[in-house]
Amino acid sequence: MAQTTLFTKADIDRRVAEMGAEITRDLAGSDLIAMCVLKGAMFFCSDLMRQIAFDVALDFIQISSYGNQKTSSGVVTILKEPQLDMRDRTVLIIEDIIDSGLSMKEVFRYIKLDRGAKEVRTATFLDKPTARKVEFKADYIGFSIDPKFVVGYGLDFAEKYRNIPDIQVLEE
Ligand code: IMP
Ligand code: MG
Repeated sequence: MAQTTLFTKADIDRRVAEMGAEITRDLAGSDLIAMCVLKGAMFFCSDLMRQIAFDVALDFIQISSYGNQKTSSGVVTILKEPQLDMRDRTVLIIEDIIDSGLSMKEVFRYIKLDRGAKEVRTATFLDKPTARKVEFKADYIGFSIDPKFVVGYGLDFAEKYRNIPDIQVLEE
């Protein structure tokens, strides 16, 4: 499959630094937990955390993925639960990409209602706003893109391409 570069590693670094500065301004003084949504957000979370200029705890949640499909099954299940108690804390959910909105909406609901987080904020590296099936707007968005399938910087297709340093469009 052919691939074309959408964002280079330099584009990514620049934007993640801006997002970290914005989060530092907005959330300084909060007892923050960075909640990395596995597996795709691993690199973004790792980079973003290091651009936040105050102490941040780290936890992980894993949800069911697309399997080998390019579109969501619509059913979101939690495969790995976070470990930390978040009832008195602010949680920043960190996702790689929001497409239909189903995954983020369910993670948000779980963190807020089932786990009782005091406050919930959301950050996504990429957003495909025209692909929504349910309404969801993240607080922090790296780049809004057309509804094309992208890989690299943690994002995969059937577990491939995650380790590409930049973001590429996967063309048939
Ligand atoms: P949603 O539930 O449809 O919003 O999908 C969100 C999840 O689907 C993300 O966490 C990704 O794992 C995956 N996903 C959506 N679009 C893409 C893409 O273009 N490339 C790779 N993964 C994607
Ligand atoms: Mg994902």
